[in-house]
Amino acid sequence: MKLGFVGIGALSSAIVTGLKSLPGEATPVVVSPRNEDIAAELAARYPDVRIAADNQAVLDQCDRVMLAVRPQIARDVLKELRFREDHHVVSLIATVSREEIAALVAPAGRVTKALPMPMIARLEGATIVCPSDRETAAFFSRLGKVIEVDDQNEFDVLTVVTATYASYFKYLDTIHGWVRGEGVSSDKARDYITSIFKALANAPDTTPDADFMHLSQDYATRGGINEQVLRELTERGLFDAFAESLGRVHRRIAGT
Ligand SMILES: NC(=O)c1ccc[n+]([C@@H]2O[C@H](COP(=O)([O-])OP(=O)(O)OC[C@H]3O[C@@H](n4cnc5c(N)ncnc54)[C@H](OP(=O)(O)O)[C@@H]3O)[C@@H](O)[C@H]2O)c1
Repeated sequence: MKLGFVGIGALSSAIVTGLKSLPGEATPVVVSPRNEDIAAELAARYPDVRIAADNQAVLDQCDRVMLAVRPQIARDVLKELRFREDHHVVSLIATVSREEIAALVAPAGRVTKALPMPMIARLEGATIVCPSDRETAAFFSRLGKVIEVDDQNEFDVLTVVTATYASYFKYLDTIHGWVRGEGVSSDKARDYITSIFKALANAPDTTPDADFMHLSQDYATRGGINEQVLRELTERGLFDAFAESLGRVHRRIAGT
């Protein structure tokens, strides 16, 4: 397999970094010349990463190509390119449907959507693959977890999960800010919060039969301080507002 990237920005660079961190990994990779600095850095770091003269040269030199330009320019970039029937196209472009990509990359016969996350650089996180595709799943499973789905709606719904990261950190920042406000040093507060939330993040793996609400109830001892915060936030409609926001993101992603 010779792997190509059209668009070598934050996400492609994370994939190449994760891939090349695997022991004995020698897949030849050819990347587009943009972004110039990222392409140059990857080519300098890894002997089997080469920079193509242009996007068409990427396609001409590889059999599997990952599309990773921003959605806003994807149509203009793709319509300039000549794909081959034997190209396996993996689109990472978040908000353009597989059907639309398939039409733009014809006659390429095999088109898969994948949604990796930047933490793939550290071999962490999960990639959604749609529709199920043995080779794409095998590729990404070396770099983290893979969730395969065959249904576009299921793909869109899972994509909504990725809209919650900023709020997650805002949640941690709220705790951090409050603790600091009460006079605890920033470093000490950060260390404590980080350690505790790392341990909490392991709970679903250590108790695989417990759903999230069950885990929440385990901590919400009747009359205790966890129950108090959960009740007060619930009464103020925080979680309902959060769920409503997820619904709006879903409608935006699905274009409905
Ligand atoms: N980052 C994420 O967390 C994430 C997660 C899931 C999916 N995605 C999807 O992945 C895709 C890439 O995202 P990203 O975060 O990596 O964006 P990005 O960092 O902006 O990377 C896109 C790259 O495309 C390059 N580019 C611009 N015009 C080009 C052209 N005509 N031909 C080839 N390359 C060109 C840009 O180069 P210049 O810098 O020179 O303009 C830029 O480096 C997007 O479609 C996004 O929806 C991203």
